[in-house]
Amino acid sequence: MAKLMSSLLITAIAFALINRCETVSIQILQPIRSWGDEVGLIFIPDVNITGEQYNKTARAIQEASELRLWVVLTGDYFFSVPDTQQVEGAVNSAIGQLERAGMNSKTYVGVGHGLGGRNLQSYAQNSNLRAIVLLGSSLPSHISMMDYPIPVLTLCGELDGLMRIPRVAGEYEKLMGAAKDSDFFRGVYRTPVIYIPGTNHALFASGQMPRFILDDDLAASISEEQAHGIIGQHVDSFLTVSFSSSESKVDNALNQLVHAFSQTAGKLQPFLDLKRLDVGDDGRTSLWTILAQEFFADELSDRVNAYNLIIKNPGFFLSIPTITHTDDGVIAGTSALVHYDLKTTWKRWHAVYESPREISMKLVSKESFRLALDSNHTSRLFSKPHDCKSLNRLAFALALTVSSEDAKERYLKRGRPIIFEEDEMLESNLHWASRPLYMKETEAGLVVRSVGMITAASGRMISGRHYCKVISPYRAMEWINVNSLRPFKK
Ligand SMILES: *[C@@H]1O[C@H](CO)[C@@H](O)[C@H](O)[C@H]1NC(C)=O
Ligand SMILES: *[C@@H]1O[C@H](CO)[C@@H](O)[C@H](O)[C@H]1NC(C)=O
Ligand SMILES: *[C@@H]1O[C@H](CO)[C@@H](O)[C@H](O)[C@H]1NC(C)=O
Repeated sequence: MAKLMSSLLITAIAFALINRCETVSIQILQPIRSWGDEVGLIFIPDVNITGEQYNKTARAIQEASELRLWVVLTGDYFFSVPDTQQVEGAVNSAIGQLERAGMNSKTYVGVGHGLGGRNLQSYAQNSNLRAIVLLGSSLPSHISMMDYPIPVLTLCGELDGLMRIPRVAGEYEKLMGAAKDSDFFRGVYRTPVIYIPGTNHALFASGQMPRFILDDDLAASISEEQAHGIIGQHVDSFLTVSFSSSESKVDNALNQLVHAFSQTAGKLQPFLDLKRLDVGDDGRTSLWTILAQEFFADELSDRVNAYNLIIKNPGFFLSIPTITHTDDGVIAGTSALVHYDLKTTWKRWHAVYESPREISMKLVSKESFRLALDSNHTSRLFSKPHDCKSLNRLAFALALTVSSEDAKERYLKRGRPIIFEEDEMLESNLHWASRPLYMKETEAGLVVRSVGMITAASGRMISGRHYCKVISPYRAMEWINVNSLRPFKK
C-alpha cells in the first residue's frame, strides 16, 4: 500500500513537472498601429513579478514605434520563477496565440527582465525567436556577444542594484574587444549595450516589487513614465534596425543606436579604466601596485623605476621585493596578489562585487630607497613614509574623481562613506600573509583597515620591505557608484 502511495505521489509530481508550462498565463496586447511591419514581443518577467506588471513598459514601446507591434505578457510561472523549460513552453504558446489572434509575420522577439532575461537568452539561442531584448539582465559572462546567434539588445539602468553597472561594463568590454572595426560596428547594431541614466531595476516594470528587488535596488532618479519612454525609444531603434522594411527608417534608427552606444561608452569607460589599474590587460601586472611603489618612494620617486608581477600563492608568499642599482637611480621589483570574492552563492549573485576583494602588495620601503640613493644622508629632510591607509585614501580619491558628476553628487549626498582606519602592523611575512584586509559594511559606512608590515633596511643591497593589503581602486568605484547607495542590511 505504502509502495502504491509513493509511486502515485511520484507520478503526480512528475505530471506536475511535465505539465507546468501549462500553468503559464498568456495575455495579448493588440497592436496600436493598423499597418506597418509586424513584430511580436513576448515578455518574460523577473522572479515574483506578474506578467501584467509589464503592460506599461510594453505600451510605451508600442507608442514609440512605427512598427505594428503585438505584445504577449506571460506570467503565472511555477513558483513564480521563469526557468528555461517553462520559458520554452511560454514562448511556444505565445506564438500559437499570436497566430490565432491574426498576426501575419513570424518575427517574434523575446523580452526578458532580470532572471527572466537570463533564462530567455539560454532558450533563445536555438528557437523561433529572431532577436531578444534584455532588461536589467545580460548574457552570461562566458558567452561572447559576437558569437550569439541572434541580435541582442542589452538595456541597463545606471541605478540598477541587481544588474549593476560594473557587471554591465564587463559586457560592454566584450563588445569593445572585437578584433576588427567592421565587427565592432556590426556589434553596435546587432548586440548594442545601452545605458539608461537614472533608471533602476524596478523601472523596467511597474507596480509592487518583490522583496529581493526592494532589498538591493537603488533609488531611481527619474519617473516611471520617463524610464518607460526611454526604454520604448531604444527598443524601437533596435527593432527597426533589425526588422523594418523602410531603408530610411533603418538609417535613422541606426543613427540613434550609434548615438546611444557612444554615450554608453563614455559612462562605462571609467569603470574599465579602474579595472585595468587593478590588473592590466595581460593579466600579469598590477599597475596600481607600481603606482603605489612610486607613491611610497615619494621625494625619491624621480629616481625610482618600478615594475610588478602578479603572482599566485605560494609564489607570492615566497616572493621578496628587489632593488637594483642603475646609472641614474634604482629599479624596484614588486609583486602583487589580486584576490577576488568567491562567486558561489547564486541566489545573491548580485551581491558579489566585480572588483577584487583586496590587493596584497610587496613593495620596497622608502628607507631602502633613501639608503640606496641618498649617500650624503640628508635624510632628516625627508618626510615620514606613507602608510597603507594613505594608499587606500588615494584609491578612493581616484575613484571619486573618475566617477560622473551625477554619481559624485549622489554619493556625497546619500552614499554611506568609506571609513579608513589606521593600519594594523604585523611583524612577520607569515602573519601578514595570513591576515586579510579588514573590510566590513556597517550602518555608518564601509570600514576598511589595511594590514601592513615594514622591515628595517640594512646595507646597500638588501631591501627593507613595506608590505600592504589595500582596497582596489575598482572596489572603491563600485562602492561609490552602487553599493554605498543600497539600503543597509545586517
Ligand atoms: C496595466 O495593468 C494594470 C493592473 O491590472 C491596470 O490597472 C492598467 O490599466 C494597465 N495599464 C495598461 C496601459 O494597460
Ligand atoms: C518569491 O515569493 C515567494 C512567496 O512569497 C517567496 O517564498 C520567495 O522567496 C520569493 N523569491 C524571491 C527570489 O524573492
Ligand atoms: C653629496 O655631497 C657632495 C658634496 O657636498 C655633492 O657634491 C654631491 O652631489 C652630493 N650627492 C648627493 C647624491 O646628493
